[in-house]
Amino acid sequence: MSEKRYRIESVLAQIGSIEEPVTGAVNYPIYQATAFRHPRLGQSTGFDYSRTKSPTRAVLEEAAAALESGDAGFACSSGMAALQIVFTLFASGDHLIVSLDLYGGTYRLLERVLSKYGVTASYVDTNDLSALEDARQPNTKAIFIETPTNPLMMITDIRAVSQWARDHGLLTIVDNTLLTPFFQRPIELGADIVVHSATKYLGGHNDVLAGLIVSKGKELSEEIAFLHNSIGAVLGPTDSYQLMRGMKTLALRMERHQSNALAIAKYLQNHPQITEVFYPGLPDHPGYEIQNTQSSGNTGIFSFRVSDSRYVDPVLRHLKLIAFAESLGGVESLMTYPAVQTHADIPAEVRDAVGVDDRLLRFSVGIEHADDLIQDLEQALAAARAEVEGGSKNE
Ligand SMILES: Cc1ncc(COP(=O)(O)O)c(C=O)c1O
Repeated sequence: MSEKRYRIESVLAQIGSIEEPVTGAVNYPIYQATAFRHPRLGQSTGFDYSRTKSPTRAVLEEAAAALESGDAGFACSSGMAALQIVFTLFASGDHLIVSLDLYGGTYRLLERVLSKYGVTASYVDTNDLSALEDARQPNTKAIFIETPTNPLMMITDIRAVSQWARDHGLLTIVDNTLLTPFFQRPIELGADIVVHSATKYLGGHNDVLAGLIVSKGKELSEEIAFLHNSIGAVLGPTDSYQLMRGMKTLALRMERHQSNALAIAKYLQNHPQITEVFYPGLPDHPGYEIQNTQSSGNTGIFSFRVSDSRYVDPVLRHLKLIAFAESLGGVESLMTYPAVQTHADIPAEVRDAVGVDDRLLRFSVGIEHADDLIQDLEQALAAARAEVEGGSKNE
């Protein structure tokens, strides 16, 4: 697919489709081998040992690099594995500037693992250039951004921040999990490295755990290739195949996730039991304008606050179509309670200061019919109100 630049929908649908040289199979096969014969001493087919390079994974990695407009792609055993490999670029004494609101697992990796190796992090609102300047230290090596953030959907201006980072000799790393390259391509906006939990929208079916790294620049890409192989947290051939299979329909799914999320966010905005809805697709979201300048669409996940924390438990119990579960980005709608699930490893005082409190729910909107999802929310909120009001009367 290299001679002509196809639109992203076409590139996605054709991942691995025209690469298999022997049989012409339309889907690239799963090469389950870990070892590859050498034709003779000093010669290689390009594949020697599957941790270093594996055929099915290589097709996925090439596709990832092309989709994110990078030079190299690396498929990893999870999003956390991808993050660990990227953070291993840094050494004891190095400092990172990190988005204030971010996935709890990334916070845990930085605070409980990387800290043991002498890598430190400051958490700031990455859209505030003066806050970045205040946080910068002589040993600062990189800025790590989620945009939108998980779960509060804060938006960072990737162009402005990566320009600032470049001016100060820092790397810009963007976790692009929530938007995917279909809607946002951070490397085109100036970032050096993009990371994904491919478990989410890229896989799209809540059935494969995977991570991706895409890098720009020869030297950086070689360094990451070295770490990917040295650490060994690579994606297996079957998972690589399954991830590619999911990615083929990414464009269709993202459009539907987006339209469903917008319709439901609007509905919840006007609901008497909801005090706030955090969704960058709503014009009153503070990041709305920036989001529109750097991405072509919106994610299918948003968070909202119920007016009374006592609603949380009955809402989660009464949902019928929407599952109470801990992930995002799949075709099935999932509701998450970040304070006790995805973000439980962030200390309560840090969570509360950021806004991940006991009234916040995160909704990963699937591709079901929006009206059915609204109906499910409506009945669960009504049942929760009845329980809470009934309980109050009995007190
Ligand atoms: C934004 C973000 N980054 C990274 C991760 C980690 O990915 P994984 O669960 O695939 O290890 C997650 C997981 O929820 C996430 O939401």
